[in-house]
Amino acid sequence: MKPPEIAFVPTMGALHAGHESLIRLARSLSEDAVVSVFVNPLQFENPEDLAKYPRTPDVDTAIAIAAGAARVWIPTAQEIYPAKVDLIDSGEVGKTFEGAARPGHFDGMLTVVKRLFELTTPKWAIFGEKDFQQLFLVKAMVAKFDLPIEIVSAPIVRESDGLAMSSRNIRLSPEGRAAATVISQALGKAAPVKDLALARSTLAAALADQPLFTVDYAEIIDEATFLPATSTTGSNRAIVAGWINGVRLLDNMAMSQATV
Ligand code: PAF
Repeated sequence: MKPPEIAFVPTMGALHAGHESLIRLARSLSEDAVVSVFVNPLQFENPEDLAKYPRTPDVDTAIAIAAGAARVWIPTAQEIYPAKVDLIDSGEVGKTFEGAARPGHFDGMLTVVKRLFELTTPKWAIFGEKDFQQLFLVKAMVAKFDLPIEIVSAPIVRESDGLAMSSRNIRLSPEGRAAATVISQALGKAAPVKDLALARSTLAAALADQPLFTVDYAEIIDEATFLPATSTTGSNRAIVAGWINGVRLLDNMAMSQATV
């Protein structure tokens, strides 16, 4: 009998409820849900961040199996990069927003994702919408190299007060954690606004209300191009990133569509 096709969830570990939802989605697509845990040095522009990144393989394995993974793969750097690799160029979009704040990050991310795809040969690969620019770039890479893989996106999983789940949230002080709700609240205020200029000013004003949040960017982008939206005829999305207590937080929300 032919083995089931693979549904693949790439991760860097430190698994939380957001990852669990990706794994459950993978499991709904295939009995052979494979989760990789690999902290990819190429996507860290800061060596200190790479050194500090949590590594909890036993806990991650238990969480992944409980969420439905059939296999958890924790490769070594040697397995992923046995020889010198040529970085994949993430292009202009890779240099904006998250890419502007983290130069080289998306080239490193695409390079590892392509290697992971080569080594796991999945039919489906699941990515969360939380890293919406990552999702955009992975889809663009799959199209560019004509890879026979379906990229499946999964909605953001939120805490009960709206904060998007992230392994970074635990680094917030109690005060910072309370302040962080401003991000999803601001997105929620901007998302229904039909006029683009008004939506942008609504987003900026709502974020400015919280002095603990330092905005890096707050923009409404066209999902087809990842450029700032110029019309409301296509699918647009509000994206936000910034810092609280020195912790970088990002979030996004689909704009309700309707032409003004
Ligand atoms: O989103 C992540 O955790 C990483 O960027 C990924 C996709 C596992 C590649 O290292």
